[in-house]
Amino acid sequence: MMQTLTRTKPITAATEDGDEHGLARSLSGMDLTLLGIGAIIGAGIFVLTGVAAATKAGPALSLSFVMGALACGFAALVYAEFASTVPLSGSAYTYTYVTLGELPAWIIGWDLILEYALACATVAIGWSGYFLRLLEGVGIHLPVALTQAPGQGGLINLPAFAIMFLISGLLALGVRQTSLVNALIVVLKLAVIGLFVYVAVPHTEPTNWQPFMPFGLSGVMAGAGLIFFAYIGFDAVSTAAEEAKNPQRDMPIGIIASLVVCTLIYIAVTVVLTGIAPYTTLNVSDPMAFALAQVGERFAAGATAIGAVAGLTSVLLVMMYGQTRVFFAMSRDGLLPKAFSTVHPRTRTPARTILATGLLIAVAAALVPIQEVASLVNVGTLAAFIMVSIAVLYLRRTQPDIHRPFRTPFMPWTPILAIVCCSALIASLDAVTLWRFVAWMAAGVVLYFVYARRHSVLGQL
Ligand code: ALA
Repeated sequence: MMQTLTRTKPITAATEDGDEHGLARSLSGMDLTLLGIGAIIGAGIFVLTGVAAATKAGPALSLSFVMGALACGFAALVYAEFASTVPLSGSAYTYTYVTLGELPAWIIGWDLILEYALACATVAIGWSGYFLRLLEGVGIHLPVALTQAPGQGGLINLPAFAIMFLISGLLALGVRQTSLVNALIVVLKLAVIGLFVYVAVPHTEPTNWQPFMPFGLSGVMAGAGLIFFAYIGFDAVSTAAEEAKNPQRDMPIGIIASLVVCTLIYIAVTVVLTGIAPYTTLNVSDPMAFALAQVGERFAAGATAIGAVAGLTSVLLVMMYGQTRVFFAMSRDGLLPKAFSTVHPRTRTPARTILATGLLIAVAAALVPIQEVASLVNVGTLAAFIMVSIAVLYLRRTQPDIHRPFRTPFMPWTPILAIVCCSALIASLDAVTLWRFVAWMAAGVVLYFVYARRHSVLGQL
């Protein structure tokens, strides 16, 4: 029994799997970096910074972002080693399968649903909110019945459903098309953020940064636990390993470069944001646009709202992409039904998985009021980072000599620090979130014994 649960997939067999199934290899290092930035910059900076500054960290929110960057920086170096050594779809799920075994891998695959699918559903609802405000700006008002979930006085959140539907269609068309649309959106959102900083800097008032740390160090930590959401996505780059032209070289570039760029942007934005508006006023869902409007910059405020819609769109695109590639890998291993790993002969994408996953997320976003669960996405992601850090330590010990095109520096300290920082962030989250997480994982374990263990390809060898 124990042997079944810890059976691992040999790295060479895993790599052959990748070659057999034929996803199209077309992404360059630049495409991967842009995919990372596409996934990272979104609701975290455009929405959550407001509540995090007002109720958790105050002007010291920039320190919360530094804390989040540290945890992610260590984790990114670990992901870069795995993504170059085991360049396959599936990310943390696959890394765990080739090291710690089938049950831990299944658990991480199940956990990644929290990171990717749940993040998509929550961001789709945020997208809908921003989109409706833009429509209102041009005088179009949709009835509440079509803009809210049943629990919130409506019938269906139609914009949230529609955007997931469109995103799924684009993903099914092909990875080149997806990456091109993503690149255009990334350019737009970076331009808008540049405009925000440029316009806002002259309005900064040093008095707004006083007191700097109104909620103390624990406030900074609680802020970091929340805005960690803003960093999620650099790891989605690693799910693209099987579609990269030169994964050994480009995976580490895509993962690390996208994180570095976004960290610098985040720190600049939070310093400026808390400099132009008193932190107490920022508890709104569109803090960047709101703060600009307060200092009379109406045009830039409008542009920021458009940038936010663009930003959330690329997050949806890349997170949804990540989810489908994790399902694809799990299905190829037999842990999910086989239909999810067929590749469409023309588009060379796992079209069936994309449409089924898209439909599921679209229905959840349209009918369930789930926007409060962003911290559940955080805990799911932090758990994956911890597991991958353990796996990298383990693989260095058990297979010291395999070819590692990128090696995590400062071993074993980098993964150990990743584990410490991620655990500290988990500890800063509220008890309800942690209980929800435990319940989700327990359901996953049950499903493993009921379905996955019996269908595992490895179990049938
Ligand atoms: N990092 C992504 C966002 O902030 C998930 O929307």
